[in-house]
This record gives sequence, structure tokens and C-alpha cells, in this order.
Amino acid sequence: MGYRVAVVGATGNVGREMLAILEEVKFPVDEIHAVASRKSIGVEVSFGDKIVKCEALDQFDFSKVDIVLMSAGGSVSKEWSPKIGKAGPVVIDNSSAWRMDPDVPLIVPEVNPDAVLGFRKKNIIANPNCSTIQLVMALKPLHDAAKIKRVVVSTYQSVSGAGKQGMDELWDQTKNIFVLGPTEPKKFPKQIAFNVIPFIGAFRDDGYTDEETKMWNETHKMLDPAIKLTVTCVRVPVMVGHAECVNLEFEKPLDEDEAREILREAPGVQVIDRRDETGYITPKEAQGEFSVFVSRIRKDPTIEHGLNMWVVSDNLRKGAALNAVQIAQLLHERGLIEKAHA
Ligand SMILES: NC(=O)c1ccc[n+]([C@@H]2O[C@H](COP(=O)([O-])OP(=O)(O)OC[C@H]3O[C@@H](n4cnc5c(N)ncnc54)[C@H](OP(=O)(O)O)[C@@H]3O)[C@@H](O)[C@H]2O)c1
Repeated sequence: MGYRVAVVGATGNVGREMLAILEEVKFPVDEIHAVASRKSIGVEVSFGDKIVKCEALDQFDFSKVDIVLMSAGGSVSKEWSPKIGKAGPVVIDNSSAWRMDPDVPLIVPEVNPDAVLGFRKKNIIANPNCSTIQLVMALKPLHDAAKIKRVVVSTYQSVSGAGKQGMDELWDQTKNIFVLGPTEPKKFPKQIAFNVIPFIGAFRDDGYTDEETKMWNETHKMLDPAIKLTVTCVRVPVMVGHAECVNLEFEKPLDEDEAREILREAPGVQVIDRRDETGYITPKEAQGEFSVFVSRIRKDPTIEHGLNMWVVSDNLRKGAALNAVQIAQLLHERGLIEKAHA
């Protein structure tokens, strides 16, 4: 027998992917519920070959489900996840609302699966930021092998990371540029079509953005607080798929061939690294895939034990929906989901 699952934010970019991936990985679902805001009541979304009609969050009885995949933004999660958790089901939340709460496990199943055991304190498990997930997937096996001292990251983040409105804005601005129509920014602070924006989230007093802060806080919580990490997050005019340029400094020697071999063996990681024009991956090719791809692995000759690499993944899949579904799979495999209807 399977579970009763509700997807909150089912009309959104991530929510739709969650519904698709639950079906693709054949997660044992007995009943599926699509939940969004009141304006989406009756809106139809797909679950495999079935059509599911959306229900409103504030009218939904969460005591009748076992698992809630939550993807409706931070403020909705802050208000609703604790109430839902108290009603019975485990909440797997995609927003940043609970990630740094010490009573909420922050999980990438390939990286820190055992940390999931603490989830009953609040009945909430947090899914990390999309850029952090793909980063720690590539860092973890290398850290285990040669202990990472310092990481310098620049991200190239697609507009889908800013939800449906982000994708619409890139699409509309791009079309309008060709017909001399309006291109004023709404979702992003500056024009995103034919441009790049070195700012995601909000500025802090120290000049970093909260997106950048999330990457080091979450890496420290999941992997190792001793790793020094500095990052610049950049929005680029790509629809789906985040890329990261990563510079690594290790405590012990690790050459590029060893790093390639280690990453080839790492679960969920694929190495595409040939030194010809097609021997690396771009966000376009990563779109729709489950893996985190690593390319352009090469020595950094300017430091003692240094490597550079290029890390790409589908931010809506491994960066969000797939990771959330894998957390549900982890709970299922470990027998940790109580059935409301048992
Ligand atoms: N996109 C990514 O790469 C990514 C990666 C990791 C995490 N996340 C996080 O995942 C969450 C969703 O992102 P997204 O890209 O899917 O956003 P999105 O495309 O803008 O979708 C937002 C979803 O939330 C629902 N929603 C908004 N306000 C609501 C309310 N008051 N009550 C009930 N439902 C409400 C919307 O329903 P309506 O259609 O009814 O408004 C919609 O289904 C965010 O927290 C985001 O930070 C996104």
C-alpha cells in the first residue's frame, strides 16, 4: 500500500515537477492532492496520465495525508508548515523558511541521509537551495577524499529559479526587444534578456546577498562548518539549469584524474569531461535530467592543492523537486512515514 501525498504549490514550476517526478520514480502514491492558492481552485494539473484539480491551501484537511511536498514560497511555509506538521503528515519544504532551524534536518540524500532522523521535532524536513544542492553533490566525494579547505564559487542561475514570473519575464522581454516593445523589469531588478545580473535575493550589510549567504550556511550545515566558502550569485538569461564555476583548495593532494574517478563513482553525479568542443555540459543539456554534471576538471596551478571545475544541474529537478521526492523515498525506505490512514 502506498501513501497519501499532497503537493502544495502544485501550479508552480517546482510543484509541477514534483508531480511529474513522483510518477517517474514510481513513488508509492495511493492518493494525490494538488494544492495551491484560492485563485487556482479547480485548475487542472497532470499526475502521470491523470488530471488532478487543485484545492485551496486554507480549505484543505491535512490530517488525511501522510506526506506534504511544500513548494509555495517562504512566507506561506512559515505560516503553514508547522500547522501541517502538527496535523500529522511530514512536510518536505522547498523554501528557505526552515533550512537553518536546528530542529529541522536539511537533507541531500546522497550527502547527509542520516541527518533525517531528527525530523520528528517539528515534522518538517528542509530541501536546500537549488545552487547549494548541486554544489554539495560535487563537493562531498572530493571532501571525503582530500578534505576541502576553501571553495570559491560563481553561479550562473537560470530565471526559472525565480518561479513562473521569472520565466515569463525573460520570454516577454526577449520577444519585445525584437518588436521594440517595453522591456522594463518587474520580477528582476534590471533587464534580464541579453544581460546578466550579479544580484539574487536581497543585499545584506556586508555587501553579500542572501542567496550567497544561503550557499555557505547550508553547505556548513550539511557538509562541514570548517570549509571556507565565498560565492557570487549571478542571474543569467537561461530558462532552466544552473551552472557553477567552482575553484577548490584541498588540504591533501588530489590530481584531476583522481578527482574525475571519484566523481564518476559518486551517486547522482555524471562526469562529462573531454577536451574537445563537445566534451562539457551546458544547462540546456542538463534540462530534464536527474544528475548533477561535472565538466572542465583541471588543476589550479596558482595554489598548492587546487582544482577548478564546472558543475551544472536542472534547478527544478535535482535542485528542487527531485531532491524533495528523494527525501520522501529515503523516509519510505527507512520506514519513517506514519500513515494517517493505517
Ligand atoms: N525554482 C527553483 O529553482 C527553486 C529551487 C529550489 C527551491 N525553490 C523554492 O520553491 C518554492 C516555489 O518555487 P517555484 O519556482 O515553483 O515558484 P512559482 O512557479 O512562482 O510557484 C509558486 C507556487 O506557490 C503557490 N502559492 C503562492 N502563494 C500561495 C498561497 N498563499 N497559498 C497557496 N499557494 C500559494 C502558487 O499557487 P498559485 O498558482 O495559486 O498562485 C504556485 O503553485 C519557492 O519557495 C522557491 O524558493 C525553487
